[in-house]
Amino acid sequence: MKKTRIFKIIDEKDEQLLEAAEIIRNGGTVAFPTETVYGLGANALSAEAVDQIYAAKGRPSDNPLIVHITTKEDLEGLVEHAPFEEALMDAFWPGAITLIFKSKGTVAARVTPGLDTLAVRMPSHVVAKKLIELSGVPIAAPSANLSGKPSPTQGHHVIDDLTGRVDGIVIYEESEVGLESTILDLTQTPPMLLRPGGITVEAIESVIGKIQIDPALEKKMSDGIQPRAPGMKYTHYSPEADVYVILGSVENMISKINSMYKESNQTVGIMCTDESKASYPYDHVLSLGSRDNLEEIASNLFKTLRKFDEIGVDIVLAEGYDTLGMGKAIMNRLNKAAGYQVIKV
Ligand code: TXA
Ligand code: MG
Repeated sequence: MKKTRIFKIIDEKDEQLLEAAEIIRNGGTVAFPTETVYGLGANALSAEAVDQIYAAKGRPSDNPLIVHITTKEDLEGLVEHAPFEEALMDAFWPGAITLIFKSKGTVAARVTPGLDTLAVRMPSHVVAKKLIELSGVPIAAPSANLSGKPSPTQGHHVIDDLTGRVDGIVIYEESEVGLESTILDLTQTPPMLLRPGGITVEAIESVIGKIQIDPALEKKMSDGIQPRAPGMKYTHYSPEADVYVILGSVENMISKINSMYKESNQTVGIMCTDESKASYPYDHVLSLGSRDNLEEIASNLFKTLRKFDEIGVDIVLAEGYDTLGMGKAIMNRLNKAAGYQVIKV
């Protein structure tokens, strides 16, 4: 067990961030807020520091990490140039997109086990930026959840998962985007989407034209296609409850969820929208927000999955979404949370 220091900060000028940065410089692990989800950071240049990330999360050792930086200059020492990098960085950095380049091999080998590429992100969150700056090193950081759990969007999620397993936890406001970054592989032509996330495919294509989509994203794992982002092959984001996604017209979803609710003799939670909430006159009904505002739905998704575990339901029946815009990332996470138990109506 590690002694975990909790830094509840009031803003990015809070002096406690100096202590958190010092832990990183000394090879320790610190969880911190980003605009997508909370991350678990360590010095990307130190093998011992990076090892501790895998240990803390119980993360499979073949699953590479994203390196977080604060300036374009930081890229120089880490990766080779790639097509479209300028246009993409100008349009979306700092922000919720991770770009994959050919690695120069300067980070610890454990950051990208067996790969010659490196995933890099420049977060926009003021606290993340400040912590990276104060640390003075590139920070390797996966989401700050125990492996397999929904990614944390609030400080208490991190405290629940990682107390005793990391050296520090920086607590600030809720992560606004609520889902992890989009991952775009620039070593392929045209660039290939490996994980849908905070920046939509439509937004990327408006800047660089048509991109490829990793075929594995459109299939379930059981179809035998290996995703190119190794982490995408694991069941993820899973609450304790058994999740089912009900997908179809709003009217059909409402009627199917009602009949499934009535037929079940277990404790059932329903994950719906503001528009449909009144159609479920039961105890454990949580809305993700308005169906017209997919950003809101995304930002509440992981938090709500964790809430169902706090309530202690056995089953979650979740309404599905169209895969346009942010809907693509929402359905990707929902499908995984459900282990691909999708009922089309
Ligand atoms: O929003 C985010 O990206 C958050 C915050 C903390 O920045 N981080 C995050 O990291 O989601 P993680 O480790 O939970 O997810 C990283 C994903 C994994 O699926 C991993 O396999 C993939 O990125 N990945 C990392 N490096 C890669 C590489 N060189 N090639 C292909 N996939 C890579
Ligand atoms: Mg993760």
